[in-house]
Amino acid sequence: MTERYVVAIDQGTTSTRCIVFDRRGQLVSVAQREHQQYFPRPGWVEHDATEIWRNVERLAPRLGVTPDQIAAVGITNQRETTVLWDRRTGVPVSRAVVWQDTRTDSLVQKLAEKPGAERVSELCGLPFATYFAAPKLRWLLDSRPGLWERAERGEVLFGTMESWLIWNLTGGRLHVTDVTNASRTMLMNLETLQWDEELLAFFDIPRAMLPEIHSSAEVYGTAVTAFPGVRIGAALGDQQAALFGQTCFHPGEAKCTYGTGSFLLLNTGTEPVRSTHGLLTTVGYKIGSDRPVYALEGSIAITGSLVQWFRDQLGLIGTAPEIETLARTVDDNGGCYIVPAFSGLFAPHWRSEARGVIVGLTSYITKGHLARAVLEATGWQTREVVDAMNADSGLALTTLKVDGGMTADNLLMQFISDVLDVPVVRPMVAETVSLGAAYAAGLAVGYWPDLEGLRQNWHRAAQWLPAMDAGVRAEEYDNWQRAVELTFGWIKP
Ligand code: G3P
Repeated sequence: MTERYVVAIDQGTTSTRCIVFDRRGQLVSVAQREHQQYFPRPGWVEHDATEIWRNVERLAPRLGVTPDQIAAVGITNQRETTVLWDRRTGVPVSRAVVWQDTRTDSLVQKLAEKPGAERVSELCGLPFATYFAAPKLRWLLDSRPGLWERAERGEVLFGTMESWLIWNLTGGRLHVTDVTNASRTMLMNLETLQWDEELLAFFDIPRAMLPEIHSSAEVYGTAVTAFPGVRIGAALGDQQAALFGQTCFHPGEAKCTYGTGSFLLLNTGTEPVRSTHGLLTTVGYKIGSDRPVYALEGSIAITGSLVQWFRDQLGLIGTAPEIETLARTVDDNGGCYIVPAFSGLFAPHWRSEARGVIVGLTSYITKGHLARAVLEATGWQTREVVDAMNADSGLALTTLKVDGGMTADNLLMQFISDVLDVPVVRPMVAETVSLGAAYAAGLAVGYWPDLEGLRQNWHRAAQWLPAMDAGVRAEEYDNWQRAVELTFGWIKP
């Protein structure tokens, strides 16, 4: 058998990576390219979708494997980022509007007050927020005269990154998405897993511009370029892919991926669980014709990007990993807290008007204390989400599986274990996002037989156990919560 590998394309917020995996789920080779971030106005974040596709084309030949050795390719992607393109030419009509972009702030407020708004969350499982695709799409359709009409005639197409990549991989033959990505648009009905007429009417989105919704693991078609002749076997939003790559296949299992932002997902089984504590109800994955598996998600907008800000905008460190060394120059935060509400606050608050604060400054505070406060912000935001999750599910989280770039920071991982008061564990294969997409694609083509086999590939590489005094934990959490309150009042109504 010549097909020895599965390839994942991980189209993320800051870069695109292609990774080759073997049958044991081990990483064989990887190639990566960053793409430009555009910040044309405060709060706006854009990507050039053509640049992103060209990056995939450039990465494919660098992997050291030939198409005939690849059983399938799976796609995973930054979610919600919205692209519109011309069906005939394949050229994007504008830059993509990225999930972090807050330009739709006032539009979202108006939509939330419109008659019928209360039905929206019920149908799609999401609150009104700038984060999701439908408001971005609505904004783009309004941005140019005639665009809505062209979309209604099916001349302009909508997609998130997986749709855009599959369109390009298949030379414009397939316009599809999967249930996990569609569940982030506000346009998909969580029960039927199809575009919902009521939601389309509410947002005034033409049906003709939307991709067909498929499961997360099935053969959608065959690539004609980049990986010519290779079957495209999976698409999953990156956070759902990490849930799958961490083999959280049973209800009650949870993972948190620490990247630009951080996203904690809990498998809740085959029925959607509605949150009453500020979490999202989303689709975790759907394998072929099996029943869908749902998840509760706590999305945190700013975690790793706070470290980047500390490095690039404040210049207090030269590289991201140096934050741990700097934080270790002091014993505690010195009374300083940083709440990074740069794009408002996501879960569990969903307050788009919130703006970041640094509190507790005295002349005692050094850059070491600030470094600690930066790392602790990720810990406390995780704690807020876990509290919401425990309240929604009625169960206490007993262990947290983690992955993503920030898990290399031992001080932070220990702090997370301390503030959650549960063990934190990291697997041997840290590339769980890509691994999840590879697993799903491999299942679709029979490269891997079943979920149980995949579970056996999961091995623990590191574990952190809680060691914080309960009184200290409670007092520090109270301080954090008071700092969060301060973020809400800054912008004038
Ligand atoms: O919802 C946004 C998320 O999918 C972005 O993930 O890892 O590309 O920052 P990442």
